[in-house]
Amino acid sequence: METKAGDPGAFAKFDLARVDSPAFVVDAAKLRDNLRILADIGERSRAKVLSALKAFSMWSTASIVGEYLDGVCTSGLWEARLASEFYDGEIATYCAAYKEEDMDEILRLSDHVIFNSPAQIERFWPYVELARARGEIFHIGLRINPLHPEGEVPKYDPSAPHSRLGFPIDQLTEDHVGMIDGIHFHNLCEQDFEPLHRTWDKVFDFIEPYFGSLKWINLGGGHHITRADYQRDELVEFLSDMAEDTGAQIYIEPGEAVALDAGILVGTVLDVGWNGMPVAIVDISATCHMPDVIEAPYRPAMLGELPMDEDGMDESGAVRLGGPSCLAGDVIGDYRLPAAAEPGLRFAFLDQAHYSMVKTTTFNGVPLPSIWLWDSETDGLECVRRFDYEDFRGRLS
Ligand SMILES: Cc1ncc(COP(=O)(O)O)c(C=O)c1O
Repeated sequence: METKAGDPGAFAKFDLARVDSPAFVVDAAKLRDNLRILADIGERSRAKVLSALKAFSMWSTASIVGEYLDGVCTSGLWEARLASEFYDGEIATYCAAYKEEDMDEILRLSDHVIFNSPAQIERFWPYVELARARGEIFHIGLRINPLHPEGEVPKYDPSAPHSRLGFPIDQLTEDHVGMIDGIHFHNLCEQDFEPLHRTWDKVFDFIEPYFGSLKWINLGGGHHITRADYQRDELVEFLSDMAEDTGAQIYIEPGEAVALDAGILVGTVLDVGWNGMPVAIVDISATCHMPDVIEAPYRPAMLGELPMDEDGMDESGAVRLGGPSCLAGDVIGDYRLPAAAEPGLRFAFLDQAHYSMVKTTTFNGVPLPSIWLWDSETDGLECVRRFDYEDFRGRLS
């Protein structure tokens, strides 16, 4: 996959020596810019906008998110707890399958509890009734699968054949809809407005008979709304029309768009050798700190990276960067670094606030990057979290 990172923005003038290495640095001003765009979509269309914690759950920024958005969406009990502890507004929880022992707390913490199948709703209905009898107020939703593939890569396409995500829309009946307050679908990944429009065209015919009885329709995430070339006016018109046509409150729950281009991951070159081309070991590991580099896969953009020659990388002075772990494939990519690759050189990968910080591991005992909050408007800089040996030990026994 291609990285969709934009330009470095204010990070172009950030002195990498001001933070630890490795370290995530998030720019609060850029985060606010993104949130302002999302809030504007919500205000103009009257849709509610939730921030998807799975993408970005740096809870020290929760109050900033809460200033702009209507709440958060969570993926299960632990994110729901995080949401209720730190975040403002509504909590919508969706999980591919709930466990019995989590149900009571999820129902208590969430405003919307969204199930992946009618079978799970039926199984947990006694919990729903008991919670309601206790006076708890929440809505029940069903995630449907639109059976409409739009993804570039099947791995990121919930409508891919035999997908487990969502109840196949062609199996939806009146009885199913009778159990729920709202419908949820999530069908996109880093996409523009048109794939959403096409998905809705497919979904429309199946749910039109229920317009009037659905209290809300949640369009999931994957909308790359804060990317400069996203078709925002079209989205606003579409969301407003949808609310009018369906009589439902419309929700979107972007994750990546909240933190797009809002953070970097700073690293340091530890050693440089030669094996048919320059090879450097750095203190950032693809597998431990940016697993999507291997999983997607994709090549993260580097701050100040020099352009590659069209022919042959070794001729162009590119250096292969890899992490300190034992995994042979712990390779980030080939880069022309902004300065000579020597031990001690600092560098940074762009657009690392979302889906990197939330996915880090300590495989091989590789230390976790510390987390810093910078504000490019005031130049204020704060280390909000540093991890140590105890964090590594605490995850094992
Ligand atoms: C149900 C659901 N909602 C929201 C999101 C957030 O998507 P994104 O971060 O691509 O906007 C995801 C991502 O996988 C999701 O599965």
